[in-house]
Amino acid sequence: IDSGEFLKQLVKYPLGASVNPRLLEENANYRALAGMEFTSVTAENHMKMALIHPEANRFDFAKGDEIVAFAKKNKSRVHGHTLVWHNQTAPWMKEFQGDQQAWENLLKQHIQTIVKHYQGQIAGWDVVNEAFFDDGSLRPSIWSDHIPDYLAKSFIWAHEADPKALLFYNDYGQDGKPKKMEAILNMVQDFKKRQIPIHGLGLQMHISIQSKNEEIKQVIEQSTATGLNIHFSEVDVAVNPKNNPDFIYDAFAQKAQSDKFLLLFTSFATIPAAQQYGITFWNVGDKDSWLRGYFKRPKEYPLLFDEAYQRKPVYVELYEGL
Ligand code: XIL
Repeated sequence: IDSGEFLKQLVKYPLGASVNPRLLEENANYRALAGMEFTSVTAENHMKMALIHPEANRFDFAKGDEIVAFAKKNKSRVHGHTLVWHNQTAPWMKEFQGDQQAWENLLKQHIQTIVKHYQGQIAGWDVVNEAFFDDGSLRPSIWSDHIPDYLAKSFIWAHEADPKALLFYNDYGQDGKPKKMEAILNMVQDFKKRQIPIHGLGLQMHISIQSKNEEIKQVIEQSTATGLNIHFSEVDVAVNPKNNPDFIYDAFAQKAQSDKFLLLFTSFATIPAAQQYGITFWNVGDKDSWLRGYFKRPKEYPLLFDEAYQRKPVYVELYEGL
């Protein structure tokens, strides 16, 4: 593979990464790589409640707009993440007092203001993120506490605001968690029956070299069988999930990792083309991976690009394996 050949050229669907506007501004290597290797972008954090809606009567679109402008310059697609989540809510939301109607107004206004702001610029939205526990029960949150049927309502409100945007339910760790998967599939069936608009399933795919291939494939098959668009929305393959301080990223670990990347890409290829929304990596290079930052695992190497934003051997192995 030479520098004029790209993974994105081997696939017919958008290939994306989550991006961080600070790195886009400050790091020329990051910016160049993100623009060159990817055809889709997701905001890692800046379209989440806490950042985009910091006060009841104030939205802050500046950083989200920067990401959209970056995408436009690179002719990339933008995926919206995320309208409703139990995490990274704004502090004022947690303190909000009101009856059911007041809560519904709050969430509806949140969703519709953002979706309208980005109307025509964002192809699809993660409308609700991570609403189910592993046992399939509904995860309690300020939304489930105050708004009955908040999942369906969120999708209806988003659809009203931009009828052309594709609406996704996004979640993690469905592999090996049949109850969680079942809850998601039941939600899809229920939405179809009630004619609640939903167009896609986001499978985050935060996996590791220990993830079981059969379990991953089963989740992909079950998701595809819904007929909805499928997005591998936050891909990374952890090589040191137990955070071993003496971990060495040797040839053995790299091979195990490239096998998992290959599994994801070859499985995605089995999805009917009309349902292939894309594959998005969670972060660009190992250095900016949330597994290092958020989970404080300094010896983690879950992505295709190294600390200097150069292609790693796993990039080449994936490219050559496809
Ligand atoms: C993560 C970001 O990468 C971190 O920077 C932030 O501190 C926490 O959230 N599932 C999701 C993403 O849907 O929004 C999360 O992103 C990672 C897990």
